[in-house]
Order: sequence, then C-alpha cells, then structure tokens
Amino acid sequence: MNLRELNQIREFALAEAREAPTAEALEAVRIKYLGRNGLLPDVMAQLKEVPAEEKPLFGKAANALKNELTGLIKERQGTLTSVIKKRDAFDPTLPGLWPPLGSEHPISKVTARITEIFQSIGFTVADGPDIETVWNNFDALNTPADHPSRDEQDTFYLNSGDLLRCHTSPVQVRYMGTHQPPIRIIAPGRCYRRDTPDATHSANFHQVEGLFVAEKVSMADLKGTLAYFAKQFLGEDVKIRFRPHFFPFTEPSFEVDFFFEIGGKSRWIEILGAGMVDPEVFKKVDYDPDKVTGFAFGMGIERLAMIMYGIKDIRNLYENDVRFLSQF
Ligand code: PHE
Repeated sequence: MNLRELNQIREFALAEAREAPTAEALEAVRIKYLGRNGLLPDVMAQLKEVPAEEKPLFGKAANALKNELTGLIKERQGTLTSVIKKRDAFDPTLPGLWPPLGSEHPISKVTARITEIFQSIGFTVADGPDIETVWNNFDALNTPADHPSRDEQDTFYLNSGDLLRCHTSPVQVRYMGTHQPPIRIIAPGRCYRRDTPDATHSANFHQVEGLFVAEKVSMADLKGTLAYFAKQFLGEDVKIRFRPHFFPFTEPSFEVDFFFEIGGKSRWIEILGAGMVDPEVFKKVDYDPDKVTGFAFGMGIERLAMIMYGIKDIRNLYENDVRFLSQF
C-alpha cells in the first residue's frame, strides 16, 4: 500500500459517494469505505507496510480522506432525503385534477326535448319492453300475416317465439289494453330491425311513439299537434306537409315532412309517420270504434339527432367515442 494507491481509493470513494442515486445506495458506499470492515480501516491497518518516507504523509492523507468522505456522505444524505420528501409531500398549491365530466348523449338530448314538448301539451310518458309478443308488435296493430315487416329478414325473432320490437307501436297496444280513453301518451324507446349497418342504418335505433285517443279526435288535431311540435322543436318558420302513405295500423296514413333550414338552405325533410288509428286496432284492444277516434305517430330519434347536429354517420352515435360525444 502506498500514497498512489490511497489516491486511487480516494477518487473512487468520492465519485461513488457523489453519484449514489438513492439514500440506500449512498449508505452502501458508506459501509463499503467507512464501515467497520470497510476499505479505509483496512488501509489504516496496512500503515506499517507503507514505505517509511511516505508514512507521515500517508497517515495524514488517510485521515483527511476519512473526514472528506464522511462530510460528503453526510451532505449527500441530506439532499437525497429532502428530494424524497419533496416528491412525496402533498402540495396544496398545485392545480387540482378535474374528474372527467360526461356529457349527455345526443340521443338522450333529443329524446328529452321531444318529451318535454309533448308533456307541455298534456301527453304523459309510457313505455314497454324491448322483447315483445308477435301479438303486440304485429297482430293487434292490424298487420296482415303476409306483411313483409314480419319476415325473418326484417325482424329479430327469439326462440321463445317472441321478438325484438321493430317499432314503438306495441306500446300503444299495451297502453290501450290497460287504460280507458281518453288517453294521450308518448313512448320513447329502443327498436330493432335486421338492417345491415351503414351510414344511415343500424340494427337498433330509437323511436318516439305518440297516441291520442278520445271522442272526436280528428285529422285537424293530428295536424295541429304536429305543427305545434315542429315549431317548438325547430322554430316558428318551420312548415309541415302530409304525404299519403300506408301503415297497417292507421287509416288514413301519412308521411310527414318538415320544411326548415339546414346547412344554410331550407328544404323538405321526412320526419315521421302518422295517421288516424285504424278502427281494426281499436277492436283488438276492446275500444269501441264508434265511440272513440284517435291519431298516432312515430318518429326516428337518430334521424332527428343527425339532422339537428349535422351528424353524417349513424354509427357515430353508438361507438362511445369520447371525442365525438364530448361535442354535445
Ligand atoms: N310504427 C311506424 C314505423 O315504425 C311509425 C308510425 C307510428 C306510423 C304510428 C303511424 C303511426 O315506421
């Protein structure tokens, strides 16, 4: 052992102490050099082997190294533990994290608005199950046995013989089966059809059904009600028109278009199906068609949402993409 070797030990020891990344690593350095079986006590023990002329300097240097290293380790220990304290400490001045807020789905928004408008003129909300009987979905609605909508190509049938309702009209049947006229309901809900999904079709979608039955309900009431709805929903300037159509459960039947401004220009857009309740339907639910009349309508909610918000692809409504949904 000589001075040169001691200097080498010094360089290593100081470097290791300076670069120790954690308090634990630093403690290991301390034990390695200063511990009871460490390198420095070992160096002292070898003092007698140091060449005689180097001995006084060697002794001093070894002592100086011990002090230097002890000091450095102490100082480093201080910084390392205060870094840890800072990292773990709760800092009340940091800005908080907002819990991500959801937004109302466009389908829910449009449904709520439609509901609100009809409630304001005395309609109450009724509902029914997604799984329906063939009777409620087709038979009681006067749908002929060979009507194409009954086809397995169009309607989802379950092994039980029931089906997934293809419109909200069965709620009419349920409600008339359990209530006596006068009745005035709307029924928002989910519907199912065997459509191949594309930009405008989805195998499940939503409708709002409307039904008003009382003595002497007329076409004028239907027109007035839908005109009121159109104005509330789209503004005073909207116009409506009725085009003759066919539904098994209404007679006469219509498709109803609204004329309003969309994307900078006004045009006619088909919005809903409607008509006067067919007397055959009243017979099925034990209402007397000589005493009561009524109107019914049904509209697609996705369609309205897409028109209102300029949504180009119906599939956007079902993908739960927050980047899309947070825009509403
Ligand atoms: N159920 C019809 C449909 O799904 C809409 C409708 C409802 C038409 C009530 C007339 C009366 O297309």
